[in-house]
Amino acid sequence: MSVTSSVPAPVATVPLRPGDHAAVHELARMAFGERSAFDPDLPRPAPDRHRCVYDGDRLVANAVTVDFTQAFGGRFVACGGLSGVMIATDRRGRGLGRRVVHDSLVAMRERGQVVSALYPTTASLYRSLGYEVAGWWGETAVALTDLPGDDEGLDWEPCRVDDARVREVAHRRAALHDGWVGSPEYLWRRRAHRRGEGVDDDCFVGSRDGAPVAAVWLRYRDADDAVFALSAGLLTGIDHHALVAACALVAAHATTTRELVTTLPEHVLAGVCEHPQRLRRRDQWVWMLRLVDVDGALEARGWNPAVEASVVLGIDDDPVFPANVGRRRLVLEGGRARVIPTTDDADVSAGVGTWARWYAGGSVTAAARRGEVTVGDPTALALLEAAVATGTGPATLPDFF
Ligand SMILES: CC(C)(COP(=O)(O)OP(=O)(O)OC[C@H]1O[C@@H](n2cnc3c(N)ncnc32)[C@H](O)[C@@H]1OP(=O)(O)O)[C@@H](O)C(=O)NCCC(=O)NCCS
Repeated sequence: MSVTSSVPAPVATVPLRPGDHAAVHELARMAFGERSAFDPDLPRPAPDRHRCVYDGDRLVANAVTVDFTQAFGGRFVACGGLSGVMIATDRRGRGLGRRVVHDSLVAMRERGQVVSALYPTTASLYRSLGYEVAGWWGETAVALTDLPGDDEGLDWEPCRVDDARVREVAHRRAALHDGWVGSPEYLWRRRAHRRGEGVDDDCFVGSRDGAPVAAVWLRYRDADDAVFALSAGLLTGIDHHALVAACALVAAHATTTRELVTTLPEHVLAGVCEHPQRLRRRDQWVWMLRLVDVDGALEARGWNPAVEASVVLGIDDDPVFPANVGRRRLVLEGGRARVIPTTDDADVSAGVGTWARWYAGGSVTAAARRGEVTVGDPTALALLEAAVATGTGPATLPDFF
């Protein structure tokens, strides 16, 4: 296709029309090769979370926002997870993709979502709208014999995957890792819905002194070289020992299968496995982050409490939100930030995408070396590096949404 567009198409987007989820499914078949039959009962985001373009009765463009929170520096930040960006094959290259993403961002900001995350199939589209690559999703295989043994003996019991105790454990763990999601209600309902659908699985919650501290959600599939293939939808614990106990529960399957496939990031697995050199990455995907409301995003996250600083940030450009452009003084104290508009010279300035990468723990010094950043005060670079170093990175996003 030779047609290209550098601006969003001048068309209006609308919410999904009532009863049109089947049309979204049809678009997914065309865009992503979706093979499953349409399931009318599958929990989905509300129609008003979609930005759509119709041609008469035909849905030709779609993007949907999933509402959740994302952890940064130990605090959960309101995030719009952008998903299902799909343009009918015969309507591509006319700016519709950029239009539905642009309008989704505007809607997020109106709803108070200060950041947005997504998994891109083309980074250029999202970069052109202010997103930047922030980290990785990865699937890793670990031999069951390399998982640790239980070092404390939790009390385990089977439960539903959407059990309140499982959700509490997952949420507490998510706070420890930059980029992890505080899963929205709809994702839990979706997980529970899929349960009865021929996907063979089990969920267990582990308690310490009567309080839930670990959870494991296992899925079984056919395998050629073992009784079954094992993957973890969830493998989590509120602290190191609880996570070790969760791993030990999985290792109990070692007579029937060889390895576990998990989206736990390698740096977390390396902390519990004695032989991290044997971990094997199966699959990976980058994820991108956008600061939708720069001031709101800076104030919402947690910061390194050891850093007390006052730094003037310059946001040089933002392709969607002029309100983000300009200078603000970031005052860091006690792990929290205050943001004050200023006309003072910027200590460090860059485009909104570069600031998104830094927000997720990316090196602003490395960005300066690449010429992405204008530096007024070189000492500010080290302060900004330290400010986002909260012991909760590197930022990963282990949940597809
Ligand atoms: C990706 C997709 C949404 C783009 O929609 P579109 O309406 O054709 O895109 P636009 O005309 O608005 O173009 C916007 C930008 O997208 C990117 N883009 C579009 N088609 C692309 C392609 N085939 N390869 C790489 N990038 C592409 C370009 O950066 C383009 O900007 P440019 O025209 O200035 O170069 C569309 O091709 C699609 O539905 N693909 C299948 C599903 C998919 O991959 N969805 C994205 C999931 S994250």
